Amino acid sequence: MALKHFLQLIDFDRDEIEHVFARSRVIKDLYKRYQPYHPLADRTLVMIFEKQSTRTRLSFEAGIQHLGGAAVFLNTRDSQLGRGEPVEDAAQVISRMCDLVMIRTFEQSILERFAANSRVPVINGLTNEYHPCQVLADIFTYIEHRGPITGRTVAWVGDANNMAYTWIQAAGLLGFRIRISTPPGYRIDPSRVTSHDAAHVDILDDPMQACAGADLVSTDVWTSMGFETENRDRLAAFADWQVDADMMRQARADALFMHCLPAHRGEEVTAEVIDGPQSVVWDEAENRLHVQKALMEFILLGRV
Ligand code: CP
Ligand code: NVA
Repeated sequence: MALKHFLQLIDFDRDEIEHVFARSRVIKDLYKRYQPYHPLADRTLVMIFEKQSTRTRLSFEAGIQHLGGAAVFLNTRDSQLGRGEPVEDAAQVISRMCDLVMIRTFEQSILERFAANSRVPVINGLTNEYHPCQVLADIFTYIEHRGPITGRTVAWVGDANNMAYTWIQAAGLLGFRIRISTPPGYRIDPSRVTSHDAAHVDILDDPMQACAGADLVSTDVWTSMGFETENRDRLAAFADWQVDADMMRQARADALFMHCLPAHRGEEVTAEVIDGPQSVVWDEAENRLHVQKALMEFILLGRV
């Protein structure tokens, strides 16, 4: 079987994404009923973290254990990765000792270099450019609450970051509109958007307009990991891009609110919104577990 990596959302086609969602439902149901399911017995997942994490680490580590496998955690500080061993050499060695690798790192090119030298599948656990596992879980969460996302309208308010670019890929893949509003100076780079995906994207200066009639409003931190030196400038530039109750009122009455977490109440979102009735942030976080279990099953075993 050819190696199947998950470095960006578009590494999967629509049919494969829908398969992962179908399996997520089955695997979630088994878990809720305390039914053991161990298709990955004796398989080992290596998790490499060059940035911090709570959800991604926990959901992958618990997830592989639920499926009968084991996880090994590596970080930059405690491994030779932090002492300049070439990523190509690390990939050769690590991938001879495990069945699957999940990496959270900085540039997408690091992940790609690892994957190009890996004997086993590699999953993107967040890079500066993309966060595909999160958007998989978010769309699964939307479907659970509201049915198919195809034909719907998603508003993205805030930074043109890894989450925003992954949502753009999702819109092209699954056929929904994405209305994006970012502050001047922090706009989406059109050279990073394919013409296919661009047909699903509306760029709006006014965040209120981006939310008008939306089925889902999503945001994220104003300063992503790795960009901390820009924090002061960003606090000023993003002030009008806070999702508050007024902004949510522009969206449909039954619109959902999402945030991948961790969140900063009083910055990108008010407490009233994130802790309010339209928010599904805890479901999003939980669904990381179920969706990634289905992802690992698919990537290692194909369609079961
Ligand atoms: N949303 C997300 O990826 O969270 P962590 O940084 O805690 O993994
Ligand atoms: N955009 C954020 C997501 C954190 C899960 C970051 O990259 O820091």
